[in-house]
Amino acid sequence: MTRSHDAIVTTQFGPRAADYVQSAVHATGEDLDALDAIVRRQAPAHALDLGSGGGHVAYRLAAHAAQVTASDLSGEMMVAVATTSLEKGLANIATCVAPAESLPFEDASFDFLGCRFSAHHWRDFHAGLREARRVLARGSTAVFVDAVSPGRASLDTHLQAVELLRDTSHVRDYSASEWASALTEAGFTVHATRTWRLRMDFATWIARMRTPEVNSSAIRALQDTASDVVRTHFDIEPDGSFMLDTLMMEAVAA
Ligand SMILES: C[S@@+](CC[C@H](N)C(=O)[O-])C[C@H]1O[C@@H](n2cnc3c(N)ncnc32)[C@H](O)[C@@H]1O
Repeated sequence: MTRSHDAIVTTQFGPRAADYVQSAVHATGEDLDALDAIVRRQAPAHALDLGSGGGHVAYRLAAHAAQVTASDLSGEMMVAVATTSLEKGLANIATCVAPAESLPFEDASFDFLGCRFSAHHWRDFHAGLREARRVLARGSTAVFVDAVSPGRASLDTHLQAVELLRDTSHVRDYSASEWASALTEAGFTVHATRTWRLRMDFATWIARMRTPEVNSSAIRALQDTASDVVRTHFDIEPDGSFMLDTLMMEAVAA
């Protein structure tokens, strides 16, 4: 049996589309407010939400952009976004089912791009960033938000291990320096970065991905045997809840 990475992603996310529309961690956040402030200043003609999931970036973009396209690998996510847009009275959001690595848009089709908590799932991170750059007009702003690796090897290994056990579509939470060099290689200039720490409530975090019991027990075993450095960095609580580092990068298509 063959199994592509993209099939793992759509199998993971498709049936959970409604959960992602409702998820408090995804529907709110200081990063969304910061992104809102950036897009409000720019009032784009056509903005792209890449890896849109439950559409929370698209709904914010729609308040300030003339037109918005929400794009995602999962058709079920895009059906959920189309339905929710109608419910919210946001008539300027169109949806598109496509991999970030191969976008069905002409060069320079957009003048703003938002991409939040998606790139760590991409089969080919660098190809996705090159596509993001290609579909943006020169001088346009792109805002990327994602979970980020703290960099230090022991912390990095723990983070990637628990992420993969929780969700097999996880590829990598890149470090800030990996993000910076990948964005530069793809043709972006990074103008500003901000970081936040988000508390992941263990039960909610596991339930959202319907992680099998054997995997969630393995995560708890890793947490219980982690070094003081790892436990302190992630602020691991007795029930497995922990703090996740996130990074926002405001970049311009060079
Ligand atoms: C955590 S959800 C996105 C959250 C959403 N952007 C938000 O702000 O609430 C991750 C999304 O990335 C999508 N995704 C994963 N790999 C992708 C790829 N290669 N191309 C496009 N979308 C992808 C998944 O289908 C999923 O909907």
